[in-house]
Amino acid sequence: PVPVITVDGPSGAGKGTISHMLAEHLGWHLLDSGALYRVTGQACLIEGVSWDDHPAVTEVARHLDVRFQVDEHGEVRVAYKGQDVSAAIRTEEGGRGASTVAAIPSVRDALLARQRDFLQPPGLVADGRDMGTVVFPAAPLKFFLTASAAERAERRYKQLISKGGSVSLARLLKDIEERDERDSTRTVSPLVPAKDAIVIDSTATPIEEVFGQVLQAVTE
Ligand code: CDP
Repeated sequence: PVPVITVDGPSGAGKGTISHMLAEHLGWHLLDSGALYRVTGQACLIEGVSWDDHPAVTEVARHLDVRFQVDEHGEVRVAYKGQDVSAAIRTEEGGRGASTVAAIPSVRDALLARQRDFLQPPGLVADGRDMGTVVFPAAPLKFFLTASAAERAERRYKQLISKGGSVSLARLLKDIEERDERDSTRTVSPLVPAKDAIVIDSTATPIEEVFGQVLQAVTE
């Protein structure tokens, strides 16, 4: 079977960075499952579908015309129906939309096969919330990255500011806490570590050191 390593955890725990570094290091494919939920939320805005209209959102997810492409700067560009939505899906509203539609069971079902399609040789690093519990439960190596909400808000803040955005730290913290609450209390695929996951708390650990711990487990 094609090998898969799963990296799950809450918002801002460093999953994206670690998954990216790991996929690059191994020369494997990368699944950013959060981007699929973000594009679904964004597609609803484009199609005039309310995030609360579950049957309509499910239809959007089922027929999601999404493309991931690496541009000339090595950045991943995301297109919905040929329209570049890369920036729009990364806003805080994009995060809210993603976590709202992600709580709808039929939406998660609709995106399941699409996520598994990313499993191609030579291997896959899968980044998300339920990669190790639901999408790839047989993965031999699973990580669950976490950090305190305050630390995660701070990281998100630095990330957004460095991209020229203007946000308030208090607002980000509130968004993160609300999203944590929604993600961990939903009835389907709540955010919990897989029983066999290696849990890494990075509150006081720089990302390079976390990557070192991950690599060590990978090469063991
Ligand atoms: O980057 P960040 O962790 O903030 O967000 P993301 O990974 O892009 O995911 C955005 C939202 O999509 C999360 O808050 C979850 O509600 C949802 N999601 C999910 O339910 N399952 C996944 N496998 C990935 C994301």
